[in-house]
Amino acid sequence: MCGIVGYVGHSNAQQVIISGLEKLEYRGYDSAGIAVIGKNGMESAKFKGRLSVLDNYLKDHPLEGNIGIGHTRWATHGVPSDENAHPHFNQDKTIAVIHNGIIENYLELKAMLLEKGYQFRSQTDTEVVAHLFDLYYDGDLLKTAFKVESEIRGTYAILAIHQDSPHEFVALRCEAPLVIGYGKGENFVASDIPAVLEYTRDVAFLENGEIAHVTADNVVVYNTKHEVVRKQPFTVEWTLDAATKGGYDHFMLKEIHEQPQGIRDTINTRMDAKGYIKLDDIKLTKEDIAKFDKIYVVACGTAFHAGCVGKYAIEKLARIPVMCDIASEFRYQDPFVDDKTLVIVVSQSGETADTLAALREAKRKGARILSITNVVGSSIARESDDVFYTWAGPEVAVASTKAYTTQLVAFYMIALNLALAKNTINEKHYFELIDQLKQTADILEEMLKDDSREKEVAGLIKDKAALFYLGRGVDMQTAKEMALKLKEISYIYAESFAAGELKHGPIALIENGTPVIAVSTQSAMVEKMVSNIQEVKARGAYVIGIGCEGDSLLASVCDKVIYIPRVDDLLTPLLSVVPGQLIAYHTTCMKGFDVDKPRNLAKSVTVE
Ligand code: G6P
Repeated sequence: MCGIVGYVGHSNAQQVIISGLEKLEYRGYDSAGIAVIGKNGMESAKFKGRLSVLDNYLKDHPLEGNIGIGHTRWATHGVPSDENAHPHFNQDKTIAVIHNGIIENYLELKAMLLEKGYQFRSQTDTEVVAHLFDLYYDGDLLKTAFKVESEIRGTYAILAIHQDSPHEFVALRCEAPLVIGYGKGENFVASDIPAVLEYTRDVAFLENGEIAHVTADNVVVYNTKHEVVRKQPFTVEWTLDAATKGGYDHFMLKEIHEQPQGIRDTINTRMDAKGYIKLDDIKLTKEDIAKFDKIYVVACGTAFHAGCVGKYAIEKLARIPVMCDIASEFRYQDPFVDDKTLVIVVSQSGETADTLAALREAKRKGARILSITNVVGSSIARESDDVFYTWAGPEVAVASTKAYTTQLVAFYMIALNLALAKNTINEKHYFELIDQLKQTADILEEMLKDDSREKEVAGLIKDKAALFYLGRGVDMQTAKEMALKLKEISYIYAESFAAGELKHGPIALIENGTPVIAVSTQSAMVEKMVSNIQEVKARGAYVIGIGCEGDSLLASVCDKVIYIPRVDDLLTPLLSVVPGQLIAYHTTCMKGFDVDKPRNLAKSVTVE
C-alpha cells in the first residue's frame, strides 16, 4: 500500500526518488507523483497510472533540485486520478505532503479547515495534512510537524517539505512503516529498505509516534514527548530481491501477517465518535433496508467463501434471508431478484468478469447493488450503488488471505448496521460485538507469533494424495476456504464436507491414515462434531482438530489439535481460517512449489 521516498543531499533528487519508487512498485499502486525544491522553487508532477507515465513526463520536464519527496498511491479515499495522486499541497503550493495510511479523523479536520477558508482540490484524506501544515507553519517545519501530529488520528507515514526551507524535510510515523537510510552528505526516508539500498546499507526504522527531522548531514529523531531518540542504525545484509517481500520469503506469508493491520484499518475508519459503525460509502436508508425481503451474495473463489460466512452473520443478526450464489452460475438461473433485493457483490480485485456480469444482471433486474471490494475505482466499485472498501492493502499472492479476512469484517459491519436499522439487535449486544470484532486484530497478531503447529501438520500431510476438511454451520464455510487454499497452491486434492453429511456418502473415501482436518469452534455443536470425528476415526482417519481454547472434549478425540483463542461464536471464522492458511503455505513450501504463483491460476480473472 502506497510507497514513499524522501531525499535530501547532493544528488539529483528526481533520479533518486524515481529509482526508489521503482523498488516499491511491488506494494501495488495506481498513481505516482513527485515534488522537488530547487532554484525554481517547488516543482511537481503527478499522474494516475504506472510510474512510467510520470517518468516519461519527467524526461521532457525534468525537476531540478537536491531535495524532494515522491509517492506511489494505492487509492483509499478518492478514486485513482491525477488530482488525488500525491503529493498534496497547501493553497499557494509552498508545502508538499505525501502520506501512506488513513487519517481517521479527516472529516472533522476537513470541516474545521473549510471553515477557516481552506479550499480542497482532491477527495483524499491526505490533503487535510497539507493544509494543517500550512495552518501551523511559523517558520519552523519540525515544530509544525509536532503540532500536526497532535491533531491527526489514524495510521500514517507522512513526509513534508516546505519551499522556504529547502534543506530539510520531516517524516512522521504511526503504524505505517518508514525507514531512514543514512548516507554521506545525503539522507533518505522510505516506506521500505529496497528504495534506499542502492545508496546506503545503513538503516534504522522509525517507531510509532516518532518524528524524524532530516537534513543532508543529519537525521534527528524525536519521540512523542519531543525528546531526542538515539537511533542505532543497522547494516542491511539482504539482497534487493528478498527485501521487496519485506523480509518474508513469500508474498503470501507477508499477507497472512498483514491481516491484523488490514482488520484494524477496515474497522477503525468506520467508527464514529460515539462508537457506532458509520458506513460512509453506503447510502442505504432505514426505509431502503426495511424494503429488502432477501439478500443475494454473489462472488467467486475465496470472495464467495467470505460471502457464505457473511450469510450467517446477516441472517443471525439482521434476520434477513440470504442466498449465496457463485457468480458464474447466478445469471443463468433466473434468480429471484427484483427491486426488493439487495445484492452484495464481493470481489478483492473488483474486476472479476463473472462477478461483474452477475452484478450487471442483478442491476438489470432492479436490485440494489452493494459491493465489497479491495480496489478503489475498480469496475465493480464503479458500477455499484454502494461500496464497502476493504482496506487490506494490495494483495499480490494469488491465494487470497488478507482480502478474505477483511471481507469477513465487512460482512460483520454490514450485518451489524442492518440489524440496528431493523431493530433486531439491542445496543448492548451491538457494542459488545463491535468490541470483540476490534479485539480480533490483536488476538490474531498474537496467534501469528507461533506457527509451529501448522508446520508440524504440513509435515504430516505433504505427501498425502488427498485430505478432507469437515465442519458444521459456519465452520463448514471455513472448511471450504481452507480446502481451497490447500488445493490452490499445494496441488493436494482437498475437499470439504458438512460433517453431518459425511455418513451419507463421502465417508466411503476414508481409509487408514487419511488426514482429516475438523473445524469445531461453535459451542452449540461441539458434541455433534465429536460424534462425526469419531465416525471418521473409526475408519482409520488421522484427525487434526481446530477448535477454541479450553475445548478438552475435542482434544480427547483428535490426534492433534490447534487451538484458537475463544471469541463470540459468530466471529470465530476470522481466526479459525488462519491455521488453514498457514498449513497450506507450509505444505507448499515443503513440496517446493511456487507459493505466490501457483500453476493454472491468475490473481484477477477477467474472462467469463
Ligand atoms: C481468481 C483467484 C482467486 C479469487 C477469485 C475471485 O480465481 O485465483 O483466488 O478468489 O479469482 O477474485 P476476486 O478478485 O473477484 O475476489
